[in-house]
Amino acid sequence: MRTQTLCAAPEDVARAGKILRAGGVVAIPTETVYGLAANALDPAAVKKIFAAKGRPADNPLIVHITRLEQWPPLVEELPPAALALAEAFWPGPLTIILKKSGIIPMETSGGLDTVGVRCPAHPLARAVIEAAGVPLAAPSANRSGEPSPTDFVHTLGGLRGRVDAVLDGGDCPVGVESTVLSLAGDTPRLLRPGGVTVEDLRQVLGRVEVDPAVTAMLAPGRQAASPGMKYKHYAPKAQLIVVDGSPEDYTAWVNGWAGALSAGQRAFAAEALGPRYPLDELPGRVAALCFDETAPELRVPAVAYGPRYGRGEQARRLFSALYRLDEEGADLVFAQRPSPAGVGLAVYNRLLRAAAFRVKRLSGPLVIGLVGPSGAGKSTVGQALARQGFGVIDCDRLTRSEKVYGPACIAQLQVAFGEDIAPGGRLDRRRLAERAFTDASAAKRLGEITFPWIERAVRAEIARLGAQGGPVVLDAPTLFESGLDSVCARILAVTAPEEERLRRIILRDGLTEAQARQRLSAQKPAQFYAERADLAVANGPGAEAAAQAVAAAEEWKKGG
Ligand code: TXA
Ligand code: MG
Repeated sequence: MRTQTLCAAPEDVARAGKILRAGGVVAIPTETVYGLAANALDPAAVKKIFAAKGRPADNPLIVHITRLEQWPPLVEELPPAALALAEAFWPGPLTIILKKSGIIPMETSGGLDTVGVRCPAHPLARAVIEAAGVPLAAPSANRSGEPSPTDFVHTLGGLRGRVDAVLDGGDCPVGVESTVLSLAGDTPRLLRPGGVTVEDLRQVLGRVEVDPAVTAMLAPGRQAASPGMKYKHYAPKAQLIVVDGSPEDYTAWVNGWAGALSAGQRAFAAEALGPRYPLDELPGRVAALCFDETAPELRVPAVAYGPRYGRGEQARRLFSALYRLDEEGADLVFAQRPSPAGVGLAVYNRLLRAAAFRVKRLSGPLVIGLVGPSGAGKSTVGQALARQGFGVIDCDRLTRSEKVYGPACIAQLQVAFGEDIAPGGRLDRRRLAERAFTDASAAKRLGEITFPWIERAVRAEIARLGAQGGPVVLDAPTLFESGLDSVCARILAVTAPEEERLRRIILRDGLTEAQARQRLSAQKPAQFYAERADLAVANGPGAEAAAQAVAAAEEWKKGG
């Protein structure tokens, strides 16, 4: 079959419409990933999708529409919840599953009595649906099992000669497939995480269950709620292993492979991966799939898929990064574990599937960074964690202690700020503060001198508490600014409404309201912390936040 390449020009969109009306298949861009489209109501056309992709016939297709009035004929009934979701998130990356009507062929629904419908936001996808004049069934435009393509080159690369046309719409802005939510059961159920997050859905629906298959392998014999979940998926040709650990530990561990493999050390590989991951043969080319910040530190070939805290960008870049790894000829890939918060859950879910659920948890103590704006109640949460047996490092307290201001540190400070800040070797904190906080450059100098000592003290504490086994909580107001977030495998943020924080710091630190307001205005907004956290707990009047934090930390300890 000759595959035409089309562009965004109106005559090409019209041509795509004509091909589709005539029962052909056309790959089109959407805001999530490229889709392989055919007339959803024509069994013969739909069969061509399955053939082109090599897709198992029991894996149902999503039906794409552009206008709400196209929806009722496709389903048995439209409950109010479905309409509320459409109102909130359409057009956009959300697929809603309901009982299907008789006009949806069994080929489209993979033999199920339900159908997933989505109203895409991408202008070209919409234009093609309009031009076709029929609802379009469109799975992701990859060959079955491979990563979904998010650009024209990879779409064409996989389907040339197998479909009637591929339409070039540039790169897909979301980068992971739509969120799939089933309203066909008693409780709304998330079957696949995507661009619309669970938090977003809960805002509209209240209760939403997350199907266990989103983050765990299906138990043998258990039926998948979404047939797509039972297949290994999104996989590059290389074996992929998700590596869970702090950026620092990840870097050290991955770099350990650099020399070992060139020396052909099978024993090293076996030891590093542990008994759960036997290797059939020694991998020739090890590569890393990592965050932007980590890539320069690595001594194996690295493909970056976004900044550590840039979850939207990770989603956008993930699939093209998986294709890149194949192009580089990697055999064994270590993927740096993304945070599964917000849209990160979609990124994590795709990586887990690409890795067939192989996750390597690095040894060494799990360090949890505890962050949040002042007055949010971070120390209350820290205390609750300490009561639960977690080792908690209070960086503020540590910073004021002898562990930081030892003789060597004091000597450096004397050179910078005058002998008399420590008469007879005993630090006069008041005098040091007077000298160091006169201007910005003096304060900066103080930071430059003390920070390495603080860092050394923190590391010593981590080693000491870590040796006792349990996770270590690092309560550090300037975790990100200091770079100490690189020793943390998880980040927990505590936030509270501004007025509540104001009240607390007035009470706690004896400030006037004006002083307290000024202190708060100099701080980073709660969102800064929430965006970086694996979990952000909102600290209200009750003890709920502390309980939530303890539950999360317990979960992380177990490897969650
Ligand atoms: O973003 C997207 O959704 C893209 C673009 C092209 O729209 N499409 C897409 O389709 O990702 P596909 O077929 O690659 O993934 C659909 C997933 C599969 O895992 C499938 O099993 C599940 O949704 N699914 C579809 N209809 C379903 C149904 N009626 N019940 C349960 N799961 C369903
Ligand atoms: Mg797919």
